Amino acid sequence: MTTFSSAQKEIPSGMIDLAIGQPSPWLLPAAAMQKASAHCAADPGCVLLAYGAEQGDGHFRLALSGFLEGIYGIPVDPAHLLVTNGASQAIDLICTLFSKAGDTIFVEEPTYFLARKIFADHRLNPVALPMDADGLIVDALEEELKRTRPAFLYTIPTYHNPTSVCLSAARRETLVELSQRHDILVVADEVYHPLSYTSAPPPPLAISCVSAKVISLGSFSKILAPGLRLGWLQAAPAVIERIVQCGLLDSGGGLNPFTSGVVRGAMEVGLVDENLALLKKTYSRRMQAMCAALRSGLPASVRFTEPSGGFFIWLSLPEGRDTLEILPKAKERNIEFMPGPKFSSRQGLKNCLRLSFAYYDTPDLLKGIERLVAVIGD
Ligand SMILES: Cc1ncc(COP(=O)(O)O)c(C=O)c1O
Repeated sequence: MTTFSSAQKEIPSGMIDLAIGQPSPWLLPAAAMQKASAHCAADPGCVLLAYGAEQGDGHFRLALSGFLEGIYGIPVDPAHLLVTNGASQAIDLICTLFSKAGDTIFVEEPTYFLARKIFADHRLNPVALPMDADGLIVDALEEELKRTRPAFLYTIPTYHNPTSVCLSAARRETLVELSQRHDILVVADEVYHPLSYTSAPPPPLAISCVSAKVISLGSFSKILAPGLRLGWLQAAPAVIERIVQCGLLDSGGGLNPFTSGVVRGAMEVGLVDENLALLKKTYSRRMQAMCAALRSGLPASVRFTEPSGGFFIWLSLPEGRDTLEILPKAKERNIEFMPGPKFSSRQGLKNCLRLSFAYYDTPDLLKGIERLVAVIGD
């Protein structure tokens, strides 16, 4: 039967799906986007409807640099920004241009499960590096570099998906130093950096995109709306130049010129800042309520750390528990989560699972935790 669904994922009625890492429908800024797009399309000389500059519209990059300076607290040169169709597309493009099938890449264990799929599309061989509460263990990276030269390292330094941990400031310095010493490309997926709830995270790895071979990825998916398919990468001029000259941009011109025009208007009138403030307040409240419910409901043998930003809570059940086996029982009780092995490059993390607080409001999150606690306790 033909279906005409417009959403990427359909949620069965009655199910509370805590695997979903995307904003609640009511948090999508429909009215603001309508206003901004009407404003943009009303311009009779709308160059945004033509093929755009390969690097992305200059006015948009200027507005984006100002927005990022406010968040990062460091200068951001618009010449170092390139517009993408979102971080997923940027990862895919980096694989195309900076690796070839059969290459080894370094990833974190755990890592973003859908980046794993993009790496598999490109037939890359991931080597998993361990993490702890301070993020990627850079000593392990240094050891691995003695044996292997990767095409690049893919890391999520701030509010990691799925663990929510932040790479410490000291480790960021060591990582950059290692990247310089070994001439290694670092792909820093920093899409969650703007979503801080308690203290500010350390400066993004974007700060080192000129002094080291760092490409930083950002996205409006997490701070405005994923359907915009709009993101950016920040890199040194030589890297930008390489990307600008690729076949994709030569054929189609810059990515998403019209949408970037709409979002530029939204940035200039403060709608993006306003939306980000609302998201931070909303997510922070939900996260605290969810953590309190987990603390009071779960046995002490289940460990988790309260996140200071991002979308996720990462639970570690006692060794020997298998979240892949628990999942079907959970679904029977109308509760779903993302099992740990999805994020593993070595079929590990069986006793772990990821919960998201981005989609549901607090009452549903609490109902979901009640069901989860019952399932885990079985
Ligand atoms: C770490 C990470 N990178 C990239 C993405 C996808 O971003 P985009 O929508 O910009 O492609 C996600 C979305 O879940 C993510 O968690």
